[in-house]
Amino acid sequence: MEVIEVLKEASTRIFNNVKDIAGTDNAAGDFGIGAGGDISRNIDIIAEKTVLDFLKEINFECVVLGEECGRVELSKEPKGFIIMDAIDGSANAVRGIPFFCSSLAFATKNNLSSITDGVITNLSNGQMYWASKNKGSFFNEEKIRVHDKEPIYKIIGINTSGASSNLLKKLEPISRNYEHTRHFGANALEMALFAKGLMDIFIDLRNKIRIQDIAAGYLIVKEAGGIIVDGDLNPLDADLSYSTRVSFIIAANQKIFDEVISQMEQ
Ligand code: IPD
Ligand code: CA
Repeated sequence: MEVIEVLKEASTRIFNNVKDIAGTDNAAGDFGIGAGGDISRNIDIIAEKTVLDFLKEINFECVVLGEECGRVELSKEPKGFIIMDAIDGSANAVRGIPFFCSSLAFATKNNLSSITDGVITNLSNGQMYWASKNKGSFFNEEKIRVHDKEPIYKIIGINTSGASSNLLKKLEPISRNYEHTRHFGANALEMALFAKGLMDIFIDLRNKIRIQDIAAGYLIVKEAGGIIVDGDLNPLDADLSYSTRVSFIIAANQKIFDEVISQMEQ
């Protein structure tokens, strides 16, 4: 089974196992602090177990880096890493807001730039966004690209959840100058929407995002033709450790990138 098919099947199984529990009391059960540093909810645990069970079932030789379960070595001779955020947008999933997803990526080495395959599945409807290195990005079976025309409405994604007052000050001109800023609460799915051309830029400069939140999105954005840089505006890369936190900006083209960046307070 090709790696991309493994990731797709694992995501489909997550969708089937969680679709009826989002928004119910059963989703919310508290399992303490997970490896990523947040409370693991029952829906997170069910979703991760689904992936781990499937990888064991097919003897997929890898090391899993899960947001809740931490590092799980499924082989002594792993082919690489499965970077797993089984539920991204856990708060939405628990409350029943239909914007949450699974994010699964495969990397051959200990860094983002070695990711070869990524799948993000919208768990409110089963729609799948996926990419394999040098083969492009897809929404279900349709090839997707970032938005390269002048947009009718400019849609500016900005994640300001828990942002410091300094960061809010820096971003304030963007909120003031653009009428349509957005943050939906699941970074991975927002990266997928961006890759499909539905947003022009997405900014997360909080330095809070974990590798699990962005691994699949990183490849899907790149393969869809997006610009992806870190908080210092250098090409984004990072190691896969649990302590790593990143900032990033993704932009559909240089024009919107330059336009938005020039407005930030330095
Ligand atoms: C969260 C979401 C959210 C972002 C948080 C992440 P989680 O992931 O991606 O959009 O603002 O920083 O932690 O906790 O729901 O997997
Ligand atoms: Ca996450």
